[in-house]
Formats: sequence, structure tokens, C-alpha cells
Amino acid sequence: MGKERAALAIHDPPYNVAAFEIKQVSEFVEWCNQWISLTYNVLSKDASLYIWIGADQNDGFQPLPDFMIMMRGQRFSPRSFITMRNQRGYGTQKNWMAVRQELLYYVKGNPDFQVEYTDIPKVLKGYYKKVDGKVTENLQRSKSEHIRASNVWVDIQQVFYRMEENVSGCYAQKPLKSIERIIRASSNANDLVIDYFSHSGTTLLASEILDRKCYTVDIDPVFAEITIRRLENFRKTGRTGWQNGNPFEGELRELGAQNAQLDIDNAPEAVEMPVQNTLM
Ligand SMILES: C[S@@+](CC[C@H](N)C(=O)[O-])C[C@H]1O[C@@H](n2cnc3c(N)ncnc32)[C@H](O)[C@@H]1O
Repeated sequence: MGKERAALAIHDPPYNVAAFEIKQVSEFVEWCNQWISLTYNVLSKDASLYIWIGADQNDGFQPLPDFMIMMRGQRFSPRSFITMRNQRGYGTQKNWMAVRQELLYYVKGNPDFQVEYTDIPKVLKGYYKKVDGKVTENLQRSKSEHIRASNVWVDIQQVFYRMEENVSGCYAQKPLKSIERIIRASSNANDLVIDYFSHSGTTLLASEILDRKCYTVDIDPVFAEITIRRLENFRKTGRTGWQNGNPFEGELRELGAQNAQLDIDNAPEAVEMPVQNTLM
């Protein structure tokens, strides 16, 4: 990053996902401690940090509690503990279905914050209060006809294969709407946003859509390539993903054509066979 400093960091580290190496909680949290310190150093003096973090109900709600304790030793100040509701859950008939996605919000210094509104219209009247001697109800006093986004997000659809933004092969893809909400609330146009765990490139794409600059990385070259392709595809077509197609369909088509040609080239010469069981 040279001397550049970011206004916002949005990190979504892997934890106990079958596809990643499973680490002990302590090892995982110590690793987080290191990249959180790195993040602090590359953020501007007033900046925001958001971390998506798991809370496994089959494992003492880890790594969330140990991660929170580690964060108390960092120089960031805690601001909010957001929960986003997934539509698909997991669990047995003997417990509440788990549909939560935890998102922690910390700040460095005193960054700006813009209130966000959901698409849910306000319908409930009430909360009568006198303003300048006149009795008003809450709809008259409110700044928007829509409900303000709180720290429980129930209005965001989890990504699935029918959605345009779906990127096949990216099992941990976050909804664009959630990242756009974070970016709008905690940064301004032309600000720099960073994300150390790109995967499907959601933070990069949301930054592009909202006129922010973004630096992102992924340790896996396949996800790095997918991230680049997602942005290129958006710039070319305006589409945010591949729905039930995929980022490598060009290559797969070519491979399919080559294989078909190979099959033809290698096919044994046709031999005339007597016809049996002919249907009349
Ligand atoms: C949970 S996913 C991030 C999902 C992302 N927010 C999205 O919406 O697509 C975690 C990603 O972190 C990457 N990763 C794991 N360890 C890493 C490391 N040490 N440095 C950078 N990326 C890493 C994985 O390859 C994976 O793509």
C-alpha cells in the first residue's frame, strides 16, 4: 500500500470451513491478532473495521468469544455487534436452527458514519410525542419512510444459485447488499477499502459500484482469478455474477470442444452390425 491509508477494512476470514485447514481456536485467534495489527497500521487515523466471524453452537460458540477477547488487547474500539440472518440454516430437530452470521464493527479514531435505511417501509404508527407544542406521531418525525438499518439485518437475501450475483464454486460468498451497506455507512466516495480475504471478490465489486477504490488479496490463486474475472465481467456486461453459469465457462467450453474433437479422432472405425430387435 506504500503510503496510502484505507478508510475502511472489511475482512471475512475462513474458519472451520471444510475446504480450509481446520485450526485450533487459539491458533486461529493468534493468526487473526496478526492481521488485525497489520490492518491497524494501514488504516487512516479515523477509520472503520468490520469482521465477519463464526460462532459455532456445536463448539462453544467459537471462534467469536475468543476473538472478542483478543480484540480487547487491540487498539480498536468496539462499536457494534451485528447479526445478519441467513435463509438457509443448520442444526437438528433438537435445537433452534442456526441462521446467524455475526459481523463485528470496530473503529480507529472517530470515523464518519452515515445512517442506512432498509427497503422495508415504515407502517407502524405510534410513539406520540409533543414537538413545538404539537402532538406528532413517529412517521411525521422520521427522516425516512423506510426502517433504519439496525444491528440485526433480516432484509438481506443469502446468495444462492438463482441470483445474478451468484459465483459458482464460491461457497462463502457474502451478499453484495451487505457489503454495499457497510461501505455506504462507513466510507465516502473515492475512499480506499481493503479486504484481506477476497474469495468471490464481493468487496472489490461493491467498491467499484459505489465509486470507492479497493485493494484485496486471496491466498488461493483460483479465488484471486475469480475476483479479477468478476470485476472484468461486471465492467463488460454490467452483471454482478454468473447466476448458474461460472467464471470459467469460456475455458470449459473450449475444453469440451477439444475433448469432443479428440473423441472423434480416436473413435474406432465404424463396423456394420446386424440390426437386432428392430421396432416396426
Ligand atoms: C470466507 S472467504 C471470504 C468470502 C468473501 N467475503 C466473499 O464474499 O466472497 C475466505 C477466503 O480467504 C482466503 N484465505 C484463507 N487464508 C488466507 C490468507 N492467509 N490470506 C489471504 N486469503 C486467505 C480463502 O482462500 C477464501 O477465499
